Amino acid sequence: MQRTLETERLLLRPLALSDAEDVFEYAGDPMVSQYMPYQPHPNVEATKEWLSQIKPEDGEFAFVLKTTGKVIGAGSARINEDGRCVIGYNFNRLYWGMGYATEAAKGLISWAYNHLGARDFSACHATENTASGNVLRKCGFTLEHYGRYSKFDGSKSYDAVYVSMHLDKLPY
Ligand SMILES: CC(C)(COP(=O)(O)OP(=O)(O)OC[C@H]1O[C@@H](n2cnc3c(N)ncnc32)[C@H](O)[C@@H]1OP(=O)(O)O)[C@@H](O)C(=O)NCCC(=O)NCCS
Repeated sequence: MQRTLETERLLLRPLALSDAEDVFEYAGDPMVSQYMPYQPHPNVEATKEWLSQIKPEDGEFAFVLKTTGKVIGAGSARINEDGRCVIGYNFNRLYWGMGYATEAAKGLISWAYNHLGARDFSACHATENTASGNVLRKCGFTLEHYGRYSKFDGSKSYDAVYVSMHLDKLPY
């Protein structure tokens, strides 16, 4: 299965162990992991451990800035138990507010549409994480229901907005 794709400014490709320094730069930042299910990585060794256990079926992608080759974020697109494709993403804080998340999320959706045959998509964001809500709305998601989600370790939970989208053809 093809595991790379290009958007205007980004290359989406599988994460590699050699990405550890770039990934740790954002995964170790508490502001980035604030609304993510993981706790900030305490050191680059923790990042290497995470990278080494990623499986192809996890649908994890590095978001690489084409101009510099730097991994500025990562995200995933995978088919959930309910048969829908769930997407998620996070970015290095230095690169926020430049449209990269919207571009990368549209890339993930296109990849899942073309290579996983996904037509139904879902996602969620903490209610107060309006930036992520904007990204999802710009990708075409609409409100499905309100709910809550928790961090993997249960240390924190959030009011959340659950969104979904059905695509008969790719709009971008
Ligand atoms: C959420 C996140 C991915 C957004 O990334 P980004 O690259 O800044 O997003 P974009 O530049 O594509 O912006 C998308 C929209 O959000 C808006 N936005 C960006 N940062 C914002 C902020 N801090 N507060 C409010 N809106 C914001 C942008 O203005 C844009 O909307 P507009 O084009 O209508 O103005 C990024 O902030 C991030 O990595 N956060 C930490 C991890 C995270 O929360 N992931 C999502 C979990 S559900």
